[in-house]
Amino acid sequence: MMRAQQKFPPSGPEREALRERGQFWTPDWIAEAMVGYVLAGGSDTIFDPAVGAGAFFRAAKVVSRQLGRTCKLMGTEVDEEALKEAQASGLSESDLALVELRDFVLNPPAGPFEAIVANPPYIRHHRLTQTLKGQLRDLGKKIIGQSLDGRAGLHVYFLLRALELLEPERGRLAFIISADICEGVFASILWDWISRRYRIEAVVTFAPEASPFQGVDTNPIILMIRRTAPAPHLLWARCTEPGTAELKRWTLSGLRYRPTSSLEVFVRKLDEALATGLSRSPREAGLNGPRLGDFASVLRGIATGANEFFFLTRKQGEALGIPDEFLRKAIGRTRDVPGSVVDERLLAELEALGRPTLLFCPDGRRLDQFPPAVRRYLEEGERKGLPRRPLLATRRPWYKMEVRKAPPILFAYLGRRHSRFVRNLAGVIPLTGFLCVYPRSDDPAFLEKLWSVLSHPATLENLTFVGKSYGSGCIKVEPRALERLILPEDVVRKSGLTIPRRSVQEVLPLQWVPRIGG
Ligand SMILES: C[S@@+](CC[C@H](N)C(=O)[O-])C[C@H]1O[C@@H](n2cnc3c(N)ncnc32)[C@H](O)[C@@H]1O
Repeated sequence: MMRAQQKFPPSGPEREALRERGQFWTPDWIAEAMVGYVLAGGSDTIFDPAVGAGAFFRAAKVVSRQLGRTCKLMGTEVDEEALKEAQASGLSESDLALVELRDFVLNPPAGPFEAIVANPPYIRHHRLTQTLKGQLRDLGKKIIGQSLDGRAGLHVYFLLRALELLEPERGRLAFIISADICEGVFASILWDWISRRYRIEAVVTFAPEASPFQGVDTNPIILMIRRTAPAPHLLWARCTEPGTAELKRWTLSGLRYRPTSSLEVFVRKLDEALATGLSRSPREAGLNGPRLGDFASVLRGIATGANEFFFLTRKQGEALGIPDEFLRKAIGRTRDVPGSVVDERLLAELEALGRPTLLFCPDGRRLDQFPPAVRRYLEEGERKGLPRRPLLATRRPWYKMEVRKAPPILFAYLGRRHSRFVRNLAGVIPLTGFLCVYPRSDDPAFLEKLWSVLSHPATLENLTFVGKSYGSGCIKVEPRALERLILPEDVVRKSGLTIPRRSVQEVLPLQWVPRIGG
């Protein structure tokens, strides 16, 4: 019954099709562990709202046989082709007889279900149609009493629907889901609602090398939730090796077995875990330090709406005859900055490589008021349909470029190299691959002190508490979240910056106790 792991096409239309439908299959070692958790409650049925190629059904057959029990398989799916793949992967027609072709979120079955297990389609919000987004917003409002931020993807509503359909008292649910469900802007409302009504029993996270979806840029976590009274603690586990049987042994033991290798399990206070984010490891120290926002403000880089038109090489700028007053030095991709400094030498190297380094910055004047070369280039942009591009269509006039002062410090995120701060010695304006960090004082000594704090490794370690994690250890941080970055107090003191009173006095609960017993 074991299958080869799904091969992900690295790019191209096939990869795109997988993304559109969120069809990433769960590997057996994970599926069996998750089924182990929901069946440990005694259920003789499992319900999978997104059956796909049937990973959980196959796992349920294996696990129930091992337990000497039978298990009825129920589910929903929207894609008939995926169910054919389920048959091809060893499931019989009768195994799939209770799968309904229906949309689980918008047209759910009646329920309730005692054991729900799912790997919901991970379809990010910008891939959803406006109509669907509206329907999801309404659904959120109906279930939790207020709508969630529009950046909540379909997987968030899968979880809400499943929680709604879980049988009171006996119901157990296991979801493998993107960590963004605990880290997105909508997370605090969502988890406040869940944690008051359900028992969050355990969360499993994965070291990048143990990720069940190698080569996919998401950071998955497993949530194990029961529809019973909330408890003040939860078990938080980190899986450090892929493909071992430890996870399944642990879930089948009712989470009592003490794993010996490849899985570390801790007891965490619910309050602390929710405040930190369920996907993140407990903060051992530094919770009370000053924040970056005490010393600097943060803005995102410039969104041009059409980089190929506005972001130019020096040669292009010269060939077009665009006067210098409409060009500003700029940096586009994080991989254009291999180190921690942007200076004139780096810009010259990028120019030599044919990389753009100039941002074309028309202001809001009328077309006929620009010098002829600028006007001609903007007219070319109109002929290419740029005014109808999503972001440009919202600008008046479409070519009016956002304005930023050159920030003395940049923050690079989601690059191949880990997130880092970058000193901007060349006065460049960054595009959206970077955030702009503006110190609250213009005093050069203040800037140097702040830079010494931001380039310190202990500061960078705290990024995981404010960022959204992706696969392979990448972290993405929103501007407001970066302002909440905790700066290690000893590093700040050593730098000579003055720590504001508020942050010294702030006290937050913290407890991280290794799990004992077994
Ligand atoms: C990530 S796959 C998981 C499949 C399988 N359960 C597994 O774990 O390998 C998600 C599946 O959900 C299906 N799906 C997408 N939207 C759905 C919806 N609204 N209702 C039910 N299924 C949906 C997709 O076709 C896809 O097969």
